[in-house]
Amino acid sequence: MGAMARDPQLPTHWFNILHDRPQYVTSAVSRSRLAGPVKAAGPGALLQQPLALARQSINTADRFIPIPREVLDLYAQYRPTPLRRAARLEERLGANARIYYKYEGANLTGSHKLNTALAQAYYYAQAGVKHLVTGTGAGQWGTAIAYACQLTGLDCTIFWVRSTLRQKPARGEMMRLFGAVVHESPSNLTEVGRRALKEDPAHPGTLGGATGEALALAGADSESRFAVGSGENSVLLHQTVIGQEAVSQLAQLGEFPDCVIACMGAGSNFGGIALPFLGAGKDSGRSVRLVAAESAACPKLTRGRYLYDLSDALGTTPITKIYSLGNTYVPPVVYAGGLRHHSAGPLASAMYADGSVEALAIDQVTSFQAGLLFCETEGILPAPEAAHAVAGMMDVVSRHPRREPPLVVLVNISGHGLLDLGAYRKFADGEIQPVTADEASLSRSLSALEEFNRAIAEPAESQS
Ligand SMILES: Cc1ncc(COP(=O)(O)O)c(C=O)c1O
Repeated sequence: MGAMARDPQLPTHWFNILHDRPQYVTSAVSRSRLAGPVKAAGPGALLQQPLALARQSINTADRFIPIPREVLDLYAQYRPTPLRRAARLEERLGANARIYYKYEGANLTGSHKLNTALAQAYYYAQAGVKHLVTGTGAGQWGTAIAYACQLTGLDCTIFWVRSTLRQKPARGEMMRLFGAVVHESPSNLTEVGRRALKEDPAHPGTLGGATGEALALAGADSESRFAVGSGENSVLLHQTVIGQEAVSQLAQLGEFPDCVIACMGAGSNFGGIALPFLGAGKDSGRSVRLVAAESAACPKLTRGRYLYDLSDALGTTPITKIYSLGNTYVPPVVYAGGLRHHSAGPLASAMYADGSVEALAIDQVTSFQAGLLFCETEGILPAPEAAHAVAGMMDVVSRHPRREPPLVVLVNISGHGLLDLGAYRKFADGEIQPVTADEASLSRSLSALEEFNRAIAEPAESQS
């Protein structure tokens, strides 16, 4: 097959923030719990990633990392993605702002997740892997990796969080259409799934649990690997095509944003749009405010602790310092399944810890209201996750004083909500209530997290 004609605006490199800010390199605590923090000990080895991917998570040498030609050809199917001014929304809000949005829903699978799915599937196929296994929350990641596997000739198995799987049957059909095998999580197929079902036969599932099941299945077969949908530095790196395009699309309009807003699952969507603006801001001496919109049901940044934790329920992921609600936290069921992860990834967490990022916790009623307004004014129905970003953006804009010059804001619409119509209908029928984190279960889980940190802080001698 010949190379597809590529738009000259399609970035040829990923932007690597670790070059400008090497302090963000992932550090992991040794699993033996005996050593102190070990620099970059974890992800590559533990997840058995191809070298190229593992290196991407710790590379501080290269500011730009070339995108393989094969991946560029796949990106060319749907990139560059549109950047538009939300003029009708501005008018409706009476906003003292120029609101721009980047739209990542205009691909077959429906979200930004395809940007890393294509890259990962490519690297794994190159490395001779035959089968990718993953866990998915919203189902957007599952759909993207299923399609990427189909394109690169890999088998694909997906553990999908039960509560969301049942909300969106059409997404499951899409995954199967691309050849993936889809399991409801918790399942009876793995020990971690069986444990959750024993605790509660009606367990709604969690992303940490689905990830744990996927890791268990992948670990049992030498030709299978676990593919990670968010959080890892390499995943954020792949997503920087979004922000790089947006930097140049805005520059063509003579704009640089005062504020960039995106929703936060584990951070790849947020990092994808935000990180290139840090780079561009550094180059041009301008500063940019970065705002992460998280779910009030799973407020890891605004109510979590910056401590060492695992990102899966199996306990095989690296023990990294992250903003977390504790890996035993079972977030209440909300329709933004992609924001239901108990922790942010290490890079997004480090950025929040050093004050580079602000966070807003948004409840689902506010987000559905914002999503419907965006649909009415801009002709795009945002995914429930992306609707949190719209609500966050509206909050920021509403606080901007009238006497100031208009605020220039950029919001990422990370996916479409056309397979979330059931949720929007329920909202329109008044059946959806605001959901916030449950105090009792949050404090139980945070106590367990603190206890875990005391344990891993113990010196070697006292472990025997
Ligand atoms: C449409 C959409 N937006 C945002 C997110 C959150 O993604 P991330 O974990 O990359 O922050 C998800 C996660 O599934 C999603 O499906």
